[in-house]
Amino acid sequence: MRNAMITGWGKCVPPAVLSNADLETLTDTNDEWITTRTGIKERRISHVEVSDLSAVAAQHALAAAGLTATDLDLILLATCTADRAVPSAATMVQAKIGATNAAAMDVNAACSGFLFALSVADQMIRAGGAQRVLVIGAEKLSFFLDFTNRSTCVLFGDGAGAVVLEASDESGGLLAFELGSDGTAGDLLCITGSGTEGNPMRTLPPGILMEGPDVFRRAVTAMGDASTRVLAKAGLALDEVDLLIPHQANVRIIDATARRLSLDPARVFVNIASYGNTSAATIPIALTEAVEEGRIRPGANIVFAAFGGGFTWAAAVFRWGSRTTPITTSAAQLPPSTATALELLAPNIALHGKGI
Ligand code: UT7
Repeated sequence: MRNAMITGWGKCVPPAVLSNADLETLTDTNDEWITTRTGIKERRISHVEVSDLSAVAAQHALAAAGLTATDLDLILLATCTADRAVPSAATMVQAKIGATNAAAMDVNAACSGFLFALSVADQMIRAGGAQRVLVIGAEKLSFFLDFTNRSTCVLFGDGAGAVVLEASDESGGLLAFELGSDGTAGDLLCITGSGTEGNPMRTLPPGILMEGPDVFRRAVTAMGDASTRVLAKAGLALDEVDLLIPHQANVRIIDATARRLSLDPARVFVNIASYGNTSAATIPIALTEAVEEGRIRPGANIVFAAFGGGFTWAAAVFRWGSRTTPITTSAAQLPPSTATALELLAPNIALHGKGI
């Protein structure tokens, strides 16, 4: 039986931290509201682009797998904030890491993007179309922050996570997955002014629009129900789940999803306090931290669940292999920067103004 196992993992978060106290200087908000309504304490603001964050995360994942970039035959980069529309950020990563034997493309399913890409990679490997696939989730959502919109500007941050998926005879891998979309409700969560539509003079400033409470309800239902169905598909009972790694959009969404599944909070991985919502990057960053913190034992059953713009949703059951330690490590890091988060956000303020 040909399976696809995760053999490497890595992350890259930029150094500049935007705290809730910083946000109090930019918009009409406060630490107490952000903490209690979202669980977020701080997020990272990037001085580089998505392909740069991705390339560093990728090199850590490759080292953990004991591979070099030329071993890869496919790179899938889940993002909705690519450096450019063309070329794809995935091909930029290919060039940056020297993955000369790999085909590369971006996947846009917003916050569900990493699980969409992981499922495609798994199916490519099982079908024999690829042997070693690099799957990345990376975002630079700070580019779109509008501090006159306090209900969205406090939520998002930047970062990248990556895994290497390899063909293997070991048992486990992606036991079941479920992907879904509902394009009829796309306007409830969107980035305006980011594409070709409705912007003939190219003067509309881009910004994130979200009907928060509606998206919240849909996220809890979709992530909970997709997780239940995917567990049934995998033939696993709830008490066989070692860890739920959900998309990190709001700690109250995570708690409500766990309650809907009747899952003990001790078996749910949460790191939203440190990074906020990094869209497609939340799950691979969380997975990397879960492995590094010893939360994943050999053979662990992991449930992933995500919901995001589109709408898109995804859930997957993944059985980890026997190795939970990296084969080697990489010294890859971002170019140094001493810019503060507030300095990096000066262009956003020049474009939109402040919310206070
Ligand atoms: O990753 C993709 C999926 N994204 C999500 O799943 C996000 C889903 N939505 C959410 O996480 C939540 O709906 C939000 C965090 C966006 C908002 O939380 P909420 O509890 O749903 O608040 P709300 O929108 O119902 O607003 C409640 C109050 C309002 O004031 P009034 O009208 O009651 O006086 C808002 O104006 O909170 C106010 N408010 C704020 N106050 C201080 C909204 N944003 C802020 C803020 N600081 N940043």
